[in-house]
Formats: sequence, structure tokens, C-alpha cells
Amino acid sequence: MKATAIANANIALVKYWGKRDKKLFLPNNGSISMTCDGMQTKTTIEFSPDYDQDTLTINNDTELIKESDDLKKHIDLIRSIAGISDKAKIVSETNFPVAAGLASSASGYAALTAAATKALGMDLDEKALSILTRRGSGSACRSICEGFVEWYKGTKEDGSDSYAESIAGKNHWPEFRMIATIVSEAKKKVSSRAGMAQTVETCPYYKDWLATVDNDLETIRNGIKKKDFITVAETAEYNCLKMHATMITTKPPIIYWIPATMEIINNVLLWREEGLHVYYTIDAGPQVKIICLEKDVEEINRRLLKLNGVIKTIICKPGDGVKFTNKHLF
Ligand code: PMV
Repeated sequence: MKATAIANANIALVKYWGKRDKKLFLPNNGSISMTCDGMQTKTTIEFSPDYDQDTLTINNDTELIKESDDLKKHIDLIRSIAGISDKAKIVSETNFPVAAGLASSASGYAALTAAATKALGMDLDEKALSILTRRGSGSACRSICEGFVEWYKGTKEDGSDSYAESIAGKNHWPEFRMIATIVSEAKKKVSSRAGMAQTVETCPYYKDWLATVDNDLETIRNGIKKKDFITVAETAEYNCLKMHATMITTKPPIIYWIPATMEIINNVLLWREEGLHVYYTIDAGPQVKIICLEKDVEEINRRLLKLNGVIKTIICKPGDGVKFTNKHLF
């Protein structure tokens, strides 16, 4: 009844923004991401009749899991599928800051779902694991898979065709890099879940965003296959700006950027004029993820660390999908 899984965070090149079904976490649009070696969550879970409540320890910080917590709903879902009621002890460790809005929920839900289903002897294949992980946090379904990953939006009402799969393994384009640049460690005011719901409800341009996504998916999917860096990076940057345009034009507006976010954007544009191949993408928070190739990573990282407001950077290359280990955390 105990198992341990390791999952990486992922950063989207074509963003998921908006649900068509809030209960099943079904997206309005497909998305493509890179699973990021360098931002990892390791989770051990044990179900036992000896535990009288669910507990979660993240990086040595223990808390009881409340009835209302999203995490509790996810563990309850897995318990109901397995047909057990035993409480769980969960211990997680991350090698990157959890509160910083760096897709920690993606690696967290991916590792938790994999470990919990293994502990309960469920033995799911990658597609089934991705579908179940999606029910905890949408973008987490992409962290199950290796390298470059597409999450198909699907059309079925039960969500059985809305899952992620690897479209290119981690060794297909090992030179590709994302540099996660941390500019704030404060908890964000509007979660991605709330932000996307508000966008779907109130943004007059949301339909225009949706109308462009399939094209971006095709361009980036083909660009990854051909290892066409400029096409992939340019399309990813513009896709991010289109998503932020919908966020900024909700009522009330959601503006995730802070001055340091703009500082990085402006400098990236300058460096590009100087000939460096450098692009950016931003999720539902102020952190900027730089897109570049291995050959430029040292120079770009050196420049980033000199900018006002940059706290730290994490350099990521295409990484593994979820893995199991017998080295338990307790
Ligand atoms: O799955 P969530 O609720 O963490 O939403 C993720 C939303 C974005 O990070 C902005 C985009 C994406 O595809 O990861």
C-alpha cells in the first residue's frame, strides 16, 4: 500500500486556457508543452487503516488535508475507483520553490496520481494515468509524458479522449532549453483555475483566442518534429501573448505581470535585435520562462541574472515522464 513516484513540471508552448467541463477538467483547446528536467516532485504515499486522517508533508512542512481541499477531492476520487477508504500519508519533496507559480501543481498532481494508483495496485497505462491526473489539475496530465507533449482536448463528454501523449521524446531535441526565471516568490492572487474561468465568462476576445489555437498547435507540432527553433519559439511567444491578452481583458482584469516581468521582456527583445536566439513565454503568474538553445544558454543566463528583480533561474531541458522508484521518502 506504499509507492513512490517522481514527476517533472512542464511548461506550455501552446497554452491551455479555459475549460468546457469544470468537473472533469476538459479543456476548450489542445495544448503542447515540454516536460522540464530540473523541476521535479518526488512523492511517497501510503494508504493504511492505521492512519485516522490524510496528511501531507511538502518539503518538511506538514499539514492536515481538509475536506474542502482540491487535493482531498483527488485522493477521494482515486480511493473510490480502487474501492478503499483507508486514509493516506503523503510526503513530497520538490527541488524548486513550490509557491512561485512554476507549475508545481503539475509535477505534484502527476507524482501523486502515479504513486497513489501504484500503491493501490491499479497498474494504469500512460493514457489512463494521464486521464486520471487531469482530474486533479488539467496541465498536470502533460507531466505524465516524456519530452514534448500534446494534450488532446478531445470531444467526448466523459473525457475519455482528453489525454496527453509524447509527440517527441527527450532525446529528439536535447538542445532545446527553457530557463525558468523567478521574479517573485509571493503566492499569486488569482489562481489559474479562477483566472481561466473568469476569462471564459467575461473576456470578449476569448472566442478569438480559441479560433487561433489549432493553427498554433499544428505549427508547433510540425516545428518540433523538424527541430525548427525559430518557428517553435516565435509561435510559442505569440501564443502566450494572445493568452495574456484574454486575461488582461476579463472583468475585472487579471494582470499577472510585475515590473520585473516587463524588464525581462524588454531585454529579450533587445538581445534578439543583437542577434541572440531568445524568446519568452509566461503562464498565470509573473515568472518569465526563456526559450532558447543549449548553445546560447550560458550567455542568456548570465544576462538574466544581472537584471533588476531576477531572484533566480532554473535551466531545464526536455525531461522524463513520470517514473517510479523504491527509494521511499518514509
Ligand atoms: O492546469 P492549471 O490549472 O495549472 O492551468 C495551467 C494554465 C497555464 O499554465 C497558464 C497554461 C498551461 O497550459 O500550462
